[in-house]
Amino acid sequence: MQKKQLLLVLLSVVLPVACTKEPVQAVPVAAPAPVVAAEPKIDPVTGFKMTGDWELVRGNCTACHSAKLITQQRGTAEQWLTMIRWMQKKQNLWQFDPGTENRIITYLSENYPPDAARRRAAIPPDLMPPNPYTPETTSLD
Ligand code: HEC
Repeated sequence: MQKKQLLLVLLSVVLPVACTKEPVQAVPVAAPAPVVAAEPKIDPVTGFKMTGDWELVRGNCTACHSAKLITQQRGTAEQWLTMIRWMQKKQNLWQFDPGTENRIITYLSENYPPDAARRRAAIPPDLMPPNPYTPETTSLD
């Protein structure tokens, strides 16, 4: 390393420290909140997480089938709504007033959200078979 470079490196380390006007004081900080919230208890009968509107979901969603069908399922709010609409259309599930429906969907999407680990990672492009629909072959001109 040349002298000039060394000087620059030294300056870049020393200057920021030297230029701090006031001495840094230790500020008392509250104990950090636990990163992971305590997991809710599990209802021994249904297996539902006992949090939020779980009793509303138990009341509306276990008349026709086991709660297991729900607790093993995962989805976004939109996906849960799609399942509800499907049951309403095909399985005689009753209509909910919008407030009730919102609370049910909030409970489901917060407690049974899409689970990243359930999807495999994308296949790297170099391991994919050749794509017959590349722009060259589909060009219409
Ligand atoms: C009126 C009867 C009825 C009620 C009430 C009901 N379901 Fe269903 N649900 C069904 C039927 C029937 C099936 C199909 C069962 C099967 O395939 O064995 C089903 C299937 C499901 C499935 C599986 C869907 C899939 O793709 O595998 C989920 C999840 C589900 N219901 C969630 C709910 C939720 C959440 C509620 C409450 C909002 C609810 N169900 C209330 C009748 C009902």
